[in-house]
Amino acid sequence: MNQLFPRAGGISKAVIPAAGLGTRFLPATKATPKEMLPVVDKPAIQYVVEEAVAAGLSDVLMITGRSKRALEDHFDRNYELEEALTRKGDEARLSRVQESSDLATMHYVRQGDPRGLGHAVLCAAPHVGDQPFAVLLGDDLIDPRDPLLARMVEIQEREGGSVVALMEVEPSQIHLYGCAAVEATADGDVVRVTDLVEKPEPSEAPSNYAVIGRYVLDPAVFDILRETEPGRGGEIQLTDALQKLASDEKLGGPVHGVVFKGRRYDTGDRGDYLRAIVRLACEREDLGPDFRTWLRRYVNEEM
Ligand code: G1P
Repeated sequence: MNQLFPRAGGISKAVIPAAGLGTRFLPATKATPKEMLPVVDKPAIQYVVEEAVAAGLSDVLMITGRSKRALEDHFDRNYELEEALTRKGDEARLSRVQESSDLATMHYVRQGDPRGLGHAVLCAAPHVGDQPFAVLLGDDLIDPRDPLLARMVEIQEREGGSVVALMEVEPSQIHLYGCAAVEATADGDVVRVTDLVEKPEPSEAPSNYAVIGRYVLDPAVFDILRETEPGRGGEIQLTDALQKLASDEKLGGPVHGVVFKGRRYDTGDRGDYLRAIVRLACEREDLGPDFRTWLRRYVNEEM
């Protein structure tokens, strides 16, 4: 299993786990995948695929489950709709409809049993093969103006091993995340990860560095995941497999963290989801001016 590293570049595959039930958004997610909930006028998942493509990863594998057909439809052609828009001469909407199907080469695999994030990532093994690959979690939106994934790919190509995205959070919030113990490196935005704990109590957290949902992983993680016992919540945790990688470099190279200081929106939480929509709508060139005027008046007069 030992790898020679740093390995030559060429990371091209992104894996997006999307099999979760979305219970926090019921009843909206009773018959609609949570990944399809709109953020302004695009489903959340499209931002994530766009982010992968912007970082040069145009081969996207989605790990889906039952009732996730809408995801496949969204990234496929819709000839009926395209024809109707063509007949109307509505070029602008036509190109918006075609955008999602032209974006990336999409692949899908079903998880079957929802046995945790680690298990979802393991479902990608046959597709990924023996090259490093990225994992993007759909609940985290990273603002395209603050690119993170491209920097992570750069660090993975330079250092080998695996790279996680980290963000400093309030200590009271660390129990919501994987948490990393870190050492500084010569690069201000890069740390060496020496330990990881999934969702620790604040008193047991080794730091306030939270793992946010972006990873560039050495394929050695698959062998480790195959042997990883269910952890927190009875689920096979990706964090536990990464902890093993971090504790023994011989297994698959070092684990580094890229510390992100940009804009991130957690669309898995209802409050943050609303904040993301308001913020992104305000910043849109087409909708922003009117919406900001209305919002200012609403806040001043009605709140
Ligand atoms: C997952 C991971 C966790 C990570 C988080 C980032 O947790 O297990 O380590 O910090 O994503 O969003 P989830 O939020 O799916 O419970």
